[in-house]
Amino acid sequence: MISKNTIERILDAAQIVDVISDFVALKRRGANYTACCPFHNEKTPSFSVSPSKGIFKCFGCGKAGNAVNFIMEHEQLNYAEALKYLGKKYGIEVEEREESPEDIQNRLRSDSLLNVAEFARNFFVESLKKSQSGQAIALSYFKERGFSAETIEKFQLGWSPEGRSAFCDAAIKAGYKKEFISGTGLGIEREGSGELIDRFYERVMFPVHSVSGRVIAFGGRTLRTDKSVAKYINSPESEIYIKSKSLYGIYFAKSSITRFQKCYLVEGYTDVISLHQAGVENVVASSGTSLTQDQIRLIKRFTPEVTVLYDGDAAGIKASIRGIDMLLEEGLTVKVVLFPDGEDPDSYARKHGGEKLKRFLSDSEEDFISFKTSLLSEETKRDPVQRARLINDVVASIAVIPDAISRSVYIDECSQRLSISPSILAQEVRKLRKKRQYGVYSAVENESEEKVPGTPEYFPDLNTGEQLPSFVRNTYCEPAEKDLLYYLIKFGESPLYYSKNREPESSITVSQFILSELQNDDLELQNLVYKSIFDEYFKLRGVGNEAIMKHFTGHVNPEVVSVVSGLIHSQHSLTVKQFRDSLTPEENVLAQNVPKSILLYKAKITSTAMQNLNIELEKAQKSGDQEAVESFLRQLQILNNIRNSFSKELHRLTL
Ligand code: CTP
Ligand code: MN
Repeated sequence: MISKNTIERILDAAQIVDVISDFVALKRRGANYTACCPFHNEKTPSFSVSPSKGIFKCFGCGKAGNAVNFIMEHEQLNYAEALKYLGKKYGIEVEEREESPEDIQNRLRSDSLLNVAEFARNFFVESLKKSQSGQAIALSYFKERGFSAETIEKFQLGWSPEGRSAFCDAAIKAGYKKEFISGTGLGIEREGSGELIDRFYERVMFPVHSVSGRVIAFGGRTLRTDKSVAKYINSPESEIYIKSKSLYGIYFAKSSITRFQKCYLVEGYTDVISLHQAGVENVVASSGTSLTQDQIRLIKRFTPEVTVLYDGDAAGIKASIRGIDMLLEEGLTVKVVLFPDGEDPDSYARKHGGEKLKRFLSDSEEDFISFKTSLLSEETKRDPVQRARLINDVVASIAVIPDAISRSVYIDECSQRLSISPSILAQEVRKLRKKRQYGVYSAVENESEEKVPGTPEYFPDLNTGEQLPSFVRNTYCEPAEKDLLYYLIKFGESPLYYSKNREPESSITVSQFILSELQNDDLELQNLVYKSIFDEYFKLRGVGNEAIMKHFTGHVNPEVVSVVSGLIHSQHSLTVKQFRDSLTPEENVLAQNVPKSILLYKAKITSTAMQNLNIELEKAQKSGDQEAVESFLRQLQILNNIRNSFSKELHRLTL
C-alpha cells in the first residue's frame, strides 16, 4: 500500500509534459502539445497533452488519462509500479506495505544480485571499450557482424576478458560479496579453496534485461571456431533470473509491441539485435528453449498477436511446430514467416536492409494453421494413413483455440484445403476438446448407443461449439451465480457421474466440472462474496462435502457464514425447481442438474449481456456512430446464436 499522502506528492510533482517527453517528441501548439500517438500507429498527430489540466488524450485511439495512466500504459506497469516509477523520477520516497523479515531478507538478496549484475554489465561494457582484446577481438567482431555503435550501446553489449577471474577479482575489489557474485552465476566457487572463478571469459556478452530494464542475466558467445568450446553459454537460473519467465529483448520491444499490436518471435540474441537495427523493434527471443506458458503470458500483456519467424530449414520447423499449439491455447493469434532457404532473420536483415525486410515480413506472413496444413499436406499427398495423421494434427491445433468463432473459421478454411467435410472436422474438434477437458470421450463419439443416466455416455454435451465471447465475461446475474455456489458447496466433492463400472476415480467431481466449465469460458463470479467463497473452496478441496460445509458455516467472515448457511439450510431458490420437488435424492441427479445450472448460468449472463448491448446499440444509433452500431449488431448476432443453442441444449436436458 502506498499512502495517500505519497500519491498526492507524486501527482503534484509529475508534470505531464515532462513525463511524456521522456518517451514522445511533443510539439507545442497553443496551450497544448501534440505528437503522433505512441499507442497506435498513425501518420498525422492526434495525440494531445494539456499541461494545465495534467492530462493526455488521443483523438485517434481514445486513450486518455493523467501522468500515472500514461506510464502504466506506455511501460505496461500496474498502478503501484507506475507510482514507484514516478517517485523515482522525482526523488520521492515511496514506502510500501510493511514487509515481513523474510520479505526484507529476500528483497535485500535480490537487490544485491541485481547490483552485481549491473556491475558486471558495466564491467563488460568497459572492457569492450577499453581493453586491448576488447577492441581487437570483440569490437571488430561486432563490426563485422554489422552492429552499429548505437546498437552496441543500446543493447549494452560487452566483452568478458581473458584470464580466469578478471571479473570476479574486480567485483570483489569493488566490495561485492562472494555470496552474491556466485548467486548470480557470474562467479563459480572452486571446490576446496572457495576461490571464485569467472563463468564467462573471452566471450562477447549479451546482457538479458527484465521487463523493466534491469540486467538479470547474460549470454556469452565465444569467438573461437574450435568445436570443443560451447558457442553460447548463459547465466544459470537465480532469484533474479527465472528462465521460463524471461524473454530476451522484451524491455526494448514492449512499447513497439503495444504500438503495432504484434510481437515477432525469433531464435536468439543476434536476430533480435539485427532486427532492431533494421528498424523492426517489436521482437523478442525465447533463447533456444521452447516457449513456456509464463513467457506467452508476458507477451499477452502487450498484444494478442504473435508472428513466429522461421529460418528455412524444414527439419527445424517441424520440431518447433508442436510448441506453437501452446500459443494458440493461450488464445493468441499466431502467424508465421518462413525465410528463404539458408537465411535467418539476422542474415536477411543484414543482407537486404530494413525496408526490404519490413516488406518481406508483411508480404510473406501466413496464418499458422494454414501454414501447418499446407506444410504437412505436401508430404502426405496420397498416402491415406499419413493423411489421417495430418488431419488429426491439424484438428489438434484447432481444438486448443479458446475462441469458438476463430475455431469455426479455421474449420471452414482447413476443410477446403484438405478437401474434407467441415462437419467431420468440427466433430473431431469437439471430441478432442471434450477429451482435453474431462479426460473422457464424449457422447458424440457413439451417438447411436443407448445412453444410461449416471454414466459418462449420458453426460450431456455442453460443448455445443460455442464458447462465450469475451465481451460477455463481466456480466452479473446473482441468482444464477448462487445456484452454482449451491452445487459447489453442497455436492462439490461428489462425483458428477459414474463411469460404466462405477469406479469413482474415472469420474470427475462436481467441483471439477464447475471449475472447468467456468475456466473454459474465462468466467468468474461477479458477486464478491460468492467469488471469495468460490476461490477459497478450491483451496480446501479433497476433505469431503461435510467438512467443507462446516468450514464455511464456521467462517471468520460473517458474510460468508450467512451466504453459505442460507444455501445449505433454507430452501434455496433453485432455478431447476422440478428436481427439488421430485423425490429423487439430489445426489442421483447431479449429472443432469449441475450441467443444467451451468447452462442456465451461461444462458442468463448471455441474455443480460444482450440487454446491455441493446442499450449501447440504441445510444450508438442516436449518436449516429455507424461503426459502433455495426459492431454492436455483430455482437448481438453472435450472442443470439449462442443463446439459441443454449436453449436447445436446455430443452434436450429437460426431456
Ligand atoms: N543460441 C544459443 N545457444 C547456442 C546456439 C545458439 O542460445 N548454443 C541462440 C543465440 O541466442 C543465437 C541464436 O541462437 O543468437 C542463433 O544461433 P546461431 O546462428 O548459431 O548464433 P550466431 O551467433 O548468430 O552465430 P553465426 O554467426 O554462426 O550465425
Ligand atoms: Mn546466426
